[in-house]
Amino acid sequence: MLALTCLLSGVAQPLLAQTRTLTITKRYLNLPVAQAQDRGTMQLTMPGGERSFKIRLAAGKPDYWVFCDMAGAMGKTITIRYDGKADGLETIYQDDRFAGQDSLYHEKNRPQYHFTTRRGWINDPNGMIFYDGEYHLFYQHNPFEREWENMSWGHAVSKDMIHWQELQTALLPDRMGTMFSGSTVIDYDNTAGFNQGNVPAMIALFTVDNPEKEVQCLAYSLDKGRTWTKYAQNPVIDSKAKWNSKDTRDPRVFWYAPGKHWVMVLNERDGHSIYTSKNLKQWQYESHTTGFWECPDLFELPVDGDNGKKKWVMYGASATYMIGSFDGKKFTPESGKHAYTNGTIYAAQTFTNMPGSDPRRIQIGWGRVQQPGMPFNGMMLLPTELQLRTTKNGSRLVSVPVKEVEQLFAPTGQWTALSATEANEQLKSVGSLDQFRLQTTLKLSHATSAGLSLFGQKILDYDLNHNLLNGAFYSPEDMTSMEITADIYVDRTSVEVFVNGGSFSYSLERKPNPASKEGLVFWGNRIEVKDLTFYTAKSIWK
Ligand code: FRU
Repeated sequence: MLALTCLLSGVAQPLLAQTRTLTITKRYLNLPVAQAQDRGTMQLTMPGGERSFKIRLAAGKPDYWVFCDMAGAMGKTITIRYDGKADGLETIYQDDRFAGQDSLYHEKNRPQYHFTTRRGWINDPNGMIFYDGEYHLFYQHNPFEREWENMSWGHAVSKDMIHWQELQTALLPDRMGTMFSGSTVIDYDNTAGFNQGNVPAMIALFTVDNPEKEVQCLAYSLDKGRTWTKYAQNPVIDSKAKWNSKDTRDPRVFWYAPGKHWVMVLNERDGHSIYTSKNLKQWQYESHTTGFWECPDLFELPVDGDNGKKKWVMYGASATYMIGSFDGKKFTPESGKHAYTNGTIYAAQTFTNMPGSDPRRIQIGWGRVQQPGMPFNGMMLLPTELQLRTTKNGSRLVSVPVKEVEQLFAPTGQWTALSATEANEQLKSVGSLDQFRLQTTLKLSHATSAGLSLFGQKILDYDLNHNLLNGAFYSPEDMTSMEITADIYVDRTSVEVFVNGGSFSYSLERKPNPASKEGLVFWGNRIEVKDLTFYTAKSIWK
């Protein structure tokens, strides 16, 4: 152990790094964090490796603990070097369990049927793919704080998109920069040459960000995404000069069968570019569609389920979309922009390589939801199926929770033809409102606002005078209809609402009014609650 610092003759001096040396005998290095502390850089140096990240190392009592998984460093002597306020260096400890593991997934504000990370921050879903019996969800992750930093690819797997197991961090920052968003593919035809025997490589294309620029890089895995090798000749695209912009990111790659080539949709400065490649390494710029920012997706969907009638959908991080055609090199919009969802959702992605018999296009979005007082932050929203439906205004995207969510809910009360007062009376005794699902059809008697509130928060607010649904313009397919149906999913910190069969949806952070004593309450001018079903919700965590 070394070095002191700081105040020499009353003049603040830059902090010198302090170090601590220890031999790794246990799986986890537990690190104390205090949000009020400035970030410092922590560097772990060991024979054959080095890892560095930013952390707000707690000097006194920590707000919470995070961990560094040392599975690969067993028996090695490591040096921990920290250039911030280092009083907490001595508090770091090794254990076979990470701090707080005993109460994992049962913490007070832990969402009970949505994916959240064990510790730290998450944002965009990345690399969503089905392969060999597993759905893979990678995601933007800061393992060392509940705020955005140290961008890495976290990794979780699931058999049903509902129950998730979080694995070790898949992609760590390196000398080129931090790991921003991207996608994965399975290279069945060995176009990139990384396959081994019968094992096709899972290949990730992602953005590496550094203070100077953003470039697109490649990594591959031969063990179902557990460990990754970065391509020695990264980056595969460096387009800063072409766009005179640092903003070139979030590659979304898929195989375009008719052209026998790979397609990459990449957000560059003011929209989504299309690149093509035969081998995932050399990319050719083809075209550009302006009007999008971050996190592209592009896919083909049948209209009304008719495989003889297909259209392409392109969207960006905010989930606004255009419908059009795509010839493998250029997307030509025919209609748009439209929005099918809003609220906390951002940077949603869809699964690729779905099992052969399953034609669904399934999306998961990042829920920008605060998890108050928790050692983790953010969440993934429910997986939803995207479909194109014909409406009076042409084809439109709809989004409905996948059928796999049904296993979570059991109906415990069902009513029809109630007044608001009668419905509110029934809702007084439905049990815990911590987590539940509720389906209802309301019939309005006036074209003024009506809906449902939960502890004073309007979770359904339908105003037919302004045609506003929780603040966004909404007119149903039958614009003279006085009815609205809502399928509402409430978890401990979030609300997701799908109206009229998914023709519009939104997600909210749960914000109960602390003064409110009322649970679920319908309001509105002489509305009829035509039907109402209340479901209890299971936890996805054991
Ligand atoms: C969207 C985004 C992406 C970027 C990532 C960084 O939320 O800004 O454009 O790759 O987050 O974490």
